[in-house]
Amino acid sequence: MSVIEELSTLRDETLAAIVAAENTTELDKVRVAVLGKSGTLTGYLRSMGQLPKEERAVVGKTVNETRAIVEGALEERKAALASAELMASMEAAAVDVTLPGRAQQMGTRHLINKIADEMCDFFAGLGYSVISGPEVETDWYNFTALNAPADHPSRSMQDTFYVKDRSGETSAVKGESDVLLRTQTSGCQVHAMENQEPPIYVIAPGKVYRRDVADPSHLPQFTQMEGLVVDKGITFGDLKGTLDLFCKQMFGEERKTRFRAHYFPFTEPSAEADVSCGICHGEGCRMCKGTGWLEILGCGMVDPNVLRMSGIDPEVYSGFAFGVGVERVACLKYNVPDLRMLIEGDMRFLRQF
Ligand code: DAH
Repeated sequence: MSVIEELSTLRDETLAAIVAAENTTELDKVRVAVLGKSGTLTGYLRSMGQLPKEERAVVGKTVNETRAIVEGALEERKAALASAELMASMEAAAVDVTLPGRAQQMGTRHLINKIADEMCDFFAGLGYSVISGPEVETDWYNFTALNAPADHPSRSMQDTFYVKDRSGETSAVKGESDVLLRTQTSGCQVHAMENQEPPIYVIAPGKVYRRDVADPSHLPQFTQMEGLVVDKGITFGDLKGTLDLFCKQMFGEERKTRFRAHYFPFTEPSAEADVSCGICHGEGCRMCKGTGWLEILGCGMVDPNVLRMSGIDPEVYSGFAFGVGVERVACLKYNVPDLRMLIEGDMRFLRQF
């Protein structure tokens, strides 16, 4: 076989090997085997000197042509393999952009906070300031300074969780500790009277704790909002006007209020306020237990003893106070039948508000 024939065979075999290469690594092996330092084609160039003079030009030309053809084929195959590899890797990492996306859930304010905010907004509009007090209280603020001394029967209505005091000496047993989880926000009245001079117009929203078992109308931890007004010449008329307006704001213009005599140790006279039932409008239904009215809050004129214990002269100042259950307002406003639904964390329920 002549050198020219050999070169032509080499070219054909190389072109076949290039086409057969399945990836760039295989392709590179073909390149090195033919065009590399000790490659087959390179070998022909090296051995040119041994050829008879007259053949050299022709062989040289053929080698160069073969090289050009092989290089061109290598380039072409390389580009084809690279784009195939790119396609394959893109397919492997493919994201189906036509799939519906995962929607981000928008959070909402919890109904309890939403109602508490609404209540605060209303009273802020009347010029009240919003204060807060500690959830861990002493017996003094929770009971004694509110006219319920140690042996007062009203204390037993609000049995609670007693905790160790800071000395760690007392046990968590009622009667042995005077530190407790507050049963009512009413202690904030005492803090307010200690911290500021009259006129006082404050509301105090916050958590309270009682040793109650959770049922549709009780929770061992719930939210109250306390209100306190101390000023010159405050009357029961101010109390009624304020709370009537509050109920209309929270439940609707058409709602009526009524005040029933009641007892609280820290107010005299004391009352419970009812709002007309939003379902039957006073006719009587299951929601209002046939009475046409729903109990909504406790209130009264601040007892002179309470003013006096906090250093305010009841001969100069008078005031009224009230305490509203925030969960109760939420449930009455949205006809929620069970207080526990507010704390179960069921998003299907909570997302409605
Ligand atoms: N602290 C009372 C309770 O938890 C509610 C209450 C009643 C608060 C009358 C008041 C008030 O300020 O005047 O049952």
